[in-house]
Amino acid sequence: MHDTITDKRPLSAGDYQAFQSFLQEACGIVLGTGKEYLVSSRLGGLMRHYGIASVGDLLSQLEHGRNPNLKTGIIDAMTTNETFWFRDMAHFNLLQSRIIPELARSGQRIRIWSAACSSGQEPYNISMIVEEFQARNPGQLRGAVEIVATDISNRMLTEAKRGVYCGISASRGMAEEQRRRYFNLKGDCFEVRPEIKRRVSFRSANLTKGYELLGRFDVIFCRNVLIYFSRAQKQDILNRMARILNPRGYLLLGSTESLSAHTDQFEMVSEGGGIIYRLR
Ligand SMILES: C[S@@+](CC[C@H](N)C(=O)[O-])C[C@H]1O[C@@H](n2cnc3c(N)ncnc32)[C@H](O)[C@@H]1O
Repeated sequence: MHDTITDKRPLSAGDYQAFQSFLQEACGIVLGTGKEYLVSSRLGGLMRHYGIASVGDLLSQLEHGRNPNLKTGIIDAMTTNETFWFRDMAHFNLLQSRIIPELARSGQRIRIWSAACSSGQEPYNISMIVEEFQARNPGQLRGAVEIVATDISNRMLTEAKRGVYCGISASRGMAEEQRRRYFNLKGDCFEVRPEIKRRVSFRSANLTKGYELLGRFDVIFCRNVLIYFSRAQKQDILNRMARILNPRGYLLLGSTESLSAHTDQFEMVSEGGGIIYRLR
Protein backbone atom coordinates (compact mmCIF):
# COMPACT_ATOMS: atom_id res chain seq x y z
CA MET A 1 0.00 0.00 0.00
CA HIS A 2 1.26 3.51 -0.83
CA ASP A 3 1.68 6.11 1.87
CA THR A 4 -0.34 9.21 1.15
CA ILE A 5 1.31 12.60 1.61
CA THR A 6 -1.05 13.21 4.48
CA ASP A 7 0.26 10.07 6.20
CA LYS A 8 3.64 11.78 6.27
CA ARG A 9 2.24 15.11 7.50
CA PRO A 10 -0.61 14.02 9.81
CA LEU A 11 -3.87 15.88 9.54
CA SER A 12 -4.07 18.32 12.48
CA ALA A 13 -7.35 18.84 14.35
CA GLY A 14 -7.45 22.46 13.11
CA ASP A 15 -6.95 21.49 9.45
CA TYR A 16 -9.57 18.73 9.76
CA GLN A 17 -12.09 21.20 11.14
CA ALA A 18 -11.29 23.73 8.43
CA PHE A 19 -11.68 21.01 5.79
CA GLN A 20 -15.03 19.92 7.27
CA SER A 21 -16.30 23.52 6.95
CA PHE A 22 -14.95 23.87 3.40
CA LEU A 23 -16.63 20.64 2.27
CA GLN A 24 -19.96 21.44 3.87
CA GLU A 25 -20.00 24.89 2.28
CA ALA A 26 -18.87 23.57 -1.12
CA CYS A 27 -21.30 20.66 -1.51
CA GLY A 28 -23.29 20.11 1.68
CA ILE A 29 -21.45 16.93 2.67
CA VAL A 30 -21.15 16.63 6.44
CA LEU A 31 -18.00 14.83 7.59
CA GLY A 32 -18.50 13.59 11.13
CA THR A 33 -15.81 13.28 13.73
CA GLY A 34 -13.16 10.62 13.28
CA LYS A 35 -13.19 10.64 9.45
CA GLU A 36 -9.60 11.88 9.11
CA TYR A 37 -8.62 8.59 7.44
CA LEU A 38 -11.24 9.18 4.74
CA VAL A 39 -9.89 12.65 3.97
CA SER A 40 -6.32 11.36 3.86
CA SER A 41 -7.07 8.39 1.65
CA ARG A 42 -9.39 10.18 -0.76
CA LEU A 43 -7.26 13.31 -1.21
CA GLY A 44 -3.88 11.54 -1.32
CA GLY A 45 -3.82 11.13 -5.13
CA LEU A 46 -4.93 14.70 -5.81
CA MET A 47 -2.36 16.17 -3.42
CA ARG A 48 0.41 14.04 -4.89
CA HIS A 49 -0.66 15.16 -8.37
CA TYR A 50 -0.34 18.85 -7.44
CA GLY A 51 2.65 18.39 -5.09
CA ILE A 52 0.71 19.64 -2.06
CA ALA A 53 2.18 18.44 1.24
CA SER A 54 -0.70 18.87 3.70
CA VAL A 55 -4.42 19.52 3.94
CA GLY A 56 -3.51 22.90 5.48
CA ASP A 57 -1.56 23.83 2.32
CA LEU A 58 -4.43 22.55 0.18
CA LEU A 59 -6.88 24.82 2.01
CA SER A 60 -4.57 27.78 1.71
CA GLN A 61 -4.20 27.21 -2.06
CA LEU A 62 -7.97 27.04 -2.33
CA GLU A 63 -8.32 30.28 -0.41
CA HIS A 64 -5.90 32.06 -2.73
CA GLY A 65 -7.64 30.61 -5.80
CA ARG A 66 -4.36 29.74 -7.54
CA ASN A 67 -5.66 26.56 -9.15
CA PRO A 68 -9.26 26.56 -10.39
CA ASN A 69 -9.17 22.75 -10.82
CA LEU A 70 -8.48 22.08 -7.15
CA LYS A 71 -12.03 22.58 -5.91
CA THR A 72 -13.46 20.35 -8.66
CA GLY A 73 -10.85 17.71 -7.88
CA ILE A 74 -11.71 17.74 -4.17
CA ILE A 75 -15.43 17.40 -4.89
CA ASP A 76 -14.75 14.53 -7.31
CA ALA A 77 -12.63 12.81 -4.66
CA MET A 78 -14.91 13.37 -1.66
CA THR A 79 -18.29 12.43 -3.17
CA THR A 80 -19.47 8.83 -2.90
CA ASN A 81 -20.63 7.81 -6.36
CA GLU A 82 -21.81 4.25 -5.83
CA THR A 83 -24.73 3.34 -8.06
CA PHE A 84 -25.98 0.40 -10.13
CA TRP A 85 -28.62 -0.50 -12.69
CA PHE A 86 -32.25 -0.61 -11.54
CA ARG A 87 -31.32 0.27 -7.95
CA ASP A 88 -34.52 -0.02 -5.86
CA MET A 89 -36.38 -1.87 -8.60
CA ALA A 90 -39.76 -1.14 -6.96
CA HIS A 91 -39.30 2.52 -8.02
CA PHE A 92 -38.87 1.58 -11.67
CA ASN A 93 -41.89 -0.74 -11.48
CA LEU A 94 -43.97 2.14 -10.09
CA LEU A 95 -42.64 4.47 -12.77
CA GLN A 96 -43.92 2.05 -15.40
CA SER A 97 -47.16 0.90 -13.80
CA ARG A 98 -48.37 4.13 -12.18
CA ILE A 99 -46.44 7.33 -12.81
CA ILE A 100 -45.92 7.28 -16.59
CA PRO A 101 -49.46 6.03 -17.43
CA GLU A 102 -50.93 8.77 -15.23
CA LEU A 103 -48.76 11.52 -16.74
CA ALA A 104 -49.33 10.18 -20.27
CA ARG A 105 -53.08 10.76 -19.88
CA SER A 106 -52.48 14.54 -19.79
CA GLY A 107 -51.00 14.38 -23.31
CA GLN A 108 -48.40 16.96 -22.25
CA ARG A 109 -44.62 16.83 -22.30
CA ILE A 110 -43.26 14.93 -19.27
CA ARG A 111 -40.14 16.20 -17.44
CA ILE A 112 -38.20 13.94 -15.06
CA TRP A 113 -35.15 15.03 -13.02
CA SER A 114 -32.45 12.61 -11.84
CA ALA A 115 -30.96 14.94 -9.22
CA ALA A 116 -27.75 13.07 -8.27
CA CYS A 117 -27.19 10.90 -11.31
CA SER A 118 -23.64 9.69 -10.59
CA SER A 119 -22.32 7.72 -13.60
CA GLY A 120 -25.71 7.75 -15.38
CA GLN A 121 -27.35 4.42 -14.51
CA GLU A 122 -30.40 6.09 -12.93
CA PRO A 123 -31.37 8.45 -15.80
CA TYR A 124 -30.63 5.80 -18.45
CA ASN A 125 -32.82 3.34 -16.53
CA ILE A 126 -35.63 5.91 -16.51
CA SER A 127 -35.23 6.26 -20.27
CA MET A 128 -35.29 2.44 -20.70
CA ILE A 129 -38.58 2.32 -18.77
CA VAL A 130 -40.04 5.03 -21.01
CA GLU A 131 -38.86 3.09 -24.09
CA GLU A 132 -40.53 -0.05 -22.76
CA PHE A 133 -43.75 1.81 -21.99
CA GLN A 134 -43.85 3.19 -25.54
CA ALA A 135 -43.27 -0.24 -27.04
CA ARG A 136 -46.07 -1.78 -24.98
CA ASN A 137 -48.51 1.12 -25.31
CA PRO A 138 -48.07 2.60 -28.78
CA GLY A 139 -49.49 6.09 -29.19
CA GLN A 140 -50.18 6.64 -25.49
CA LEU A 141 -47.25 9.00 -24.91
CA ARG A 142 -48.24 11.92 -27.07
CA GLY A 143 -45.84 14.53 -25.63
CA ALA A 144 -42.05 14.19 -25.45
CA VAL A 145 -40.38 12.79 -22.35
CA GLU A 146 -37.39 14.82 -21.22
CA ILE A 147 -34.97 13.48 -18.60
CA VAL A 148 -32.61 16.01 -17.01
CA ALA A 149 -29.72 14.38 -15.15
CA THR A 150 -27.48 16.41 -12.85
CA ASP A 151 -24.62 15.84 -10.44
CA ILE A 152 -22.03 17.98 -8.69
CA SER A 153 -19.11 15.76 -9.76
CA ASN A 154 -17.62 16.67 -13.16
CA ARG A 155 -15.86 13.31 -13.32
CA MET A 156 -19.20 11.49 -12.93
CA LEU A 157 -20.93 13.73 -15.49
CA THR A 158 -18.22 13.02 -18.07
CA GLU A 159 -18.61 9.26 -17.51
CA ALA A 160 -22.40 9.48 -17.57
CA LYS A 161 -22.53 11.46 -20.83
CA ARG A 162 -20.25 8.92 -22.49
CA GLY A 163 -22.62 6.11 -21.51
CA VAL A 164 -20.03 3.35 -21.90
CA TYR A 165 -19.90 0.70 -19.15
CA CYS A 166 -17.31 -2.00 -18.64
CA GLY A 167 -16.90 -4.95 -16.26
CA ILE A 168 -18.98 -4.86 -13.10
CA SER A 169 -20.49 -1.44 -13.89
CA ALA A 170 -22.05 -2.95 -17.04
CA SER A 171 -23.47 -5.99 -15.27
CA ARG A 172 -24.44 -4.97 -11.73
CA GLY A 173 -28.26 -5.01 -11.66
CA MET A 174 -28.56 -5.45 -15.45
CA ALA A 175 -30.00 -8.69 -16.82
CA GLU A 176 -28.35 -10.19 -19.89
CA GLU A 177 -31.52 -9.81 -21.95
CA GLN A 178 -31.89 -6.11 -21.05
CA ARG A 179 -28.23 -5.51 -21.87
CA ARG A 180 -28.75 -6.93 -25.34
CA ARG A 181 -31.82 -4.72 -25.82
CA TYR A 182 -30.44 -1.39 -24.60
CA PHE A 183 -26.69 -1.48 -25.31
CA ASN A 184 -24.34 -1.81 -28.27
CA LEU A 185 -21.11 -3.68 -27.88
CA LYS A 186 -18.09 -1.36 -27.83
CA GLY A 187 -14.86 -3.35 -27.61
CA ASP A 188 -15.06 -5.25 -24.32
CA CYS A 189 -17.62 -2.75 -23.00
CA PHE A 190 -21.26 -1.79 -23.59
CA GLU A 191 -22.57 1.55 -24.85
CA VAL A 192 -26.10 2.77 -24.14
CA ARG A 193 -28.02 2.85 -27.43
CA PRO A 194 -28.76 6.24 -29.05
CA GLU A 195 -32.56 5.89 -28.66
CA ILE A 196 -32.07 5.63 -24.86
CA LYS A 197 -29.44 8.38 -24.70
CA ARG A 198 -31.36 10.92 -26.73
CA ARG A 199 -33.97 11.56 -24.02
CA VAL A 200 -31.34 12.36 -21.38
CA SER A 201 -29.47 15.66 -21.04
CA PHE A 202 -26.70 16.02 -18.46
CA ARG A 203 -25.86 19.20 -16.55
CA SER A 204 -23.87 20.21 -13.53
CA ALA A 205 -25.94 21.23 -10.48
CA ASN A 206 -25.18 21.54 -6.79
CA LEU A 207 -28.25 20.57 -4.76
CA THR A 208 -27.26 22.88 -1.92
CA LYS A 209 -27.20 25.91 -4.25
CA GLY A 210 -29.78 27.13 -6.77
CA TYR A 211 -31.25 24.73 -9.32
CA GLU A 212 -34.45 26.59 -10.11
CA LEU A 213 -33.07 27.35 -13.60
CA LEU A 214 -33.63 23.70 -14.52
CA GLY A 215 -37.34 24.49 -14.84
CA ARG A 216 -40.32 22.54 -13.51
CA PHE A 217 -40.64 18.77 -13.25
CA ASP A 218 -43.34 16.12 -12.97
CA VAL A 219 -41.06 13.62 -11.23
CA ILE A 220 -37.85 14.04 -9.21
CA PHE A 221 -35.51 11.14 -8.42
CA CYS A 222 -33.37 12.31 -5.49
CA ARG A 223 -32.01 9.01 -4.29
CA ASN A 224 -29.12 8.13 -2.01
CA VAL A 225 -27.72 11.64 -1.74
CA LEU A 226 -29.64 13.40 1.08
CA ILE A 227 -27.96 11.03 3.57
CA TYR A 228 -24.75 13.06 3.24
CA PHE A 229 -26.33 16.39 4.24
CA SER A 230 -27.27 18.07 7.53
CA ARG A 231 -30.87 18.10 8.70
CA ALA A 232 -31.23 21.79 7.82
CA GLN A 233 -29.79 21.22 4.32
CA LYS A 234 -32.16 18.29 3.71
CA GLN A 235 -35.12 20.40 4.72
CA ASP A 236 -34.04 23.28 2.49
CA ILE A 237 -33.43 21.00 -0.52
CA LEU A 238 -36.80 19.25 -0.10
CA ASN A 239 -38.68 22.55 0.23
CA ARG A 240 -37.04 23.88 -2.92
CA MET A 241 -37.83 20.65 -4.76
CA ALA A 242 -41.47 21.00 -3.72
CA ARG A 243 -41.47 24.46 -5.34
CA ILE A 244 -40.27 23.21 -8.74
CA LEU A 245 -42.50 20.14 -8.87
CA ASN A 246 -45.69 20.47 -10.90
CA PRO A 247 -48.94 20.07 -8.92
CA ARG A 248 -49.30 16.49 -7.59
CA GLY A 249 -45.76 15.73 -8.85
CA TYR A 250 -43.79 12.75 -7.56
CA LEU A 251 -40.59 12.61 -5.48
CA LEU A 252 -38.55 9.42 -5.11
CA LEU A 253 -35.94 9.04 -2.38
CA GLY A 254 -33.51 6.20 -1.67
CA SER A 255 -35.00 3.20 0.12
CA THR A 256 -33.19 4.07 3.39
CA GLU A 257 -34.20 7.75 3.26
CA SER A 258 -37.39 9.15 4.70
CA LEU A 259 -39.21 12.40 4.31
CA SER A 260 -41.41 12.54 7.37
CA ALA A 261 -39.04 14.42 9.68
CA HIS A 262 -38.25 17.12 7.12
CA THR A 263 -41.37 18.40 5.41
CA ASP A 264 -45.15 17.95 5.40
CA GLN A 265 -45.60 19.06 1.81
CA PHE A 266 -45.71 15.49 0.49
CA GLU A 267 -47.91 12.47 1.11
CA MET A 268 -46.52 8.98 1.12
CA VAL A 269 -47.67 6.41 -1.46
CA SER A 270 -46.80 2.84 -0.59
CA GLU A 271 -47.47 0.46 -3.47
CA GLY A 272 -45.99 -2.71 -4.96
CA GLY A 273 -43.30 -2.93 -2.28
CA GLY A 274 -42.03 0.60 -2.98
CA ILE A 275 -42.48 3.94 -1.26
CA ILE A 276 -42.74 7.17 -3.23
CA TYR A 277 -43.91 10.67 -2.29
CA ARG A 278 -46.43 12.94 -3.89
CA LEU A 279 -46.87 16.70 -3.61
CA ARG A 280 -50.03 17.41 -1.61
C1 LIG B 1 -24.46 7.51 -3.96
S1 LIG B 1 -24.62 8.43 -5.45
C2 LIG B 1 -26.32 8.14 -5.83
C3 LIG B 1 -26.53 7.89 -7.30
C4 LIG B 1 -27.95 7.50 -7.71
N1 LIG B 1 -28.90 8.56 -7.41
C5 LIG B 1 -28.37 6.21 -7.05
O1 LIG B 1 -29.28 6.23 -6.19
O2 LIG B 1 -27.83 5.15 -7.35
C6 LIG B 1 -24.63 10.10 -4.79
C7 LIG B 1 -24.33 11.15 -5.87
O3 LIG B 1 -24.63 12.44 -5.30
C8 LIG B 1 -23.71 13.37 -5.80
N2 LIG B 1 -23.69 14.55 -4.92
C9 LIG B 1 -23.11 14.69 -3.70
N3 LIG B 1 -23.29 15.94 -3.23
C10 LIG B 1 -24.01 16.60 -4.17
C11 LIG B 1 -24.53 17.92 -4.25
N4 LIG B 1 -24.34 18.83 -3.29
N5 LIG B 1 -25.22 18.27 -5.36
C12 LIG B 1 -25.43 17.38 -6.37
N6 LIG B 1 -24.98 16.11 -6.34
C13 LIG B 1 -24.28 15.73 -5.25
C14 LIG B 1 -22.40 12.60 -5.84
O4 LIG B 1 -21.47 13.18 -6.73
C15 LIG B 1 -22.86 11.20 -6.26
O5 LIG B 1 -22.72 11.00 -7.65
